Formats: sequence, structure tokens, C-alpha cells
Amino acid sequence: GMDGKGAAGLPCATCHAESNPPASYGAHAPPGAPHWSLPPAAHKMAWIGLPADQLCAMIKDRSSNGDRDFAALIKHVSDDKLVLWGWNPGQGRAPVPVPHDIFVTQFKLWADAGGPCPVVGS
Ligand code: HEC
Repeated sequence: GMDGKGAAGLPCATCHAESNPPASYGAHAPPGAPHWSLPPAAHKMAWIGLPADQLCAMIKDRSSNGDRDFAALIKHVSDDKLVLWGWNPGQGRAPVPVPHDIFVTQFKLWADAGGPCPVVGS
């Protein structure tokens, strides 16, 4: 879907609830968190394989990050329930490998420094 929330007539929320299903559902049950979605088609956030300088620029770019300044980005990575789901992804899925509190501390350090980006090749 263009809005990232599923196809017409089959939104993500048809299968993905506001929280993970109970363990009794077993493996391969659809996980859940509030506002389950992908980024909208116009603001794709495809990170896999991006070099660090481009990833850094994309995260800061308000035209692609949901119009978030650093304060809003910090709130997003600290509190957003869909982001937090990454640390509690449900049965059979590996959580984000960095503990959430360390991730947020490092993110704040980066933001407080003005969000410097690496210079690739140096
Ligand atoms: C028809 C039902 C259905 C719809 C609609 C659906 N999903 Fe899923 N989704 C599933 C099921 C079932 C799984 C679990 C698959 C598994 O673990 O093998 C899943 C798994 C996932 C996962 C976890 C993948 C992983 O690596 O473990 C993500 C992320 C996801 N869906 C995102 C979405 C998004 C975003 C949408 C809407 C754009 C969506 N899904 C729409 C059924 C659905």
C-alpha cells in the first residue's frame, strides 16, 4: 500500500495486533505493536547495505524521517512502541543486538553533537 499500512482491503492490522500474540500461538504467528506499518511508499527507509554516511544523512533528513528534528528523533527511538518492539519481537525472532538503553544513550550523544556523519573513505 502507498501509505505503508497494507494493501487496500488487507491492512497490516488484519493480521498484526497491538502486541505480540501469546507464546501458546507457537512459531510463525504474526507479531504485533501499535501502528504496525512500513514507511509510506514516498518515504522508503531501505537501510540494508547503505553506507554509513548515507544512512546517517537519511536518518537526519526531515523529508524522509517523518519531519523529525533531533528532539523528535530521540523521542521516537526512546518511546515509540513500534520501535520498542524491536527489543521484544516475539517468539522465534532475535531482538536488536544492542540493549535499548545503550542505543538511546549513544543516539543522544550523537544528536547532542549535532548528528555528525562519517566521511566514507577517510
Ligand atoms: C494476511 C496476514 C498478514 C498481513 C496482512 C501482514 N502480515 Fe506481516 N506477518 C504475517 C505473519 C503470519 C507473520 C509471521 C511470519 C513468520 O514468522 O514466519 C508476519 C510477519 C511480519 C514481520 C516479522 C518478520 C520477521 O522477520 O520475523 C513483519 C516486520 C511484518 N510481518 C510486517 C508487516 C507489515 C508492515 C504489513 C503491512 C504492510 C504486514 N506485515 C501485513 C501476516 C501478515
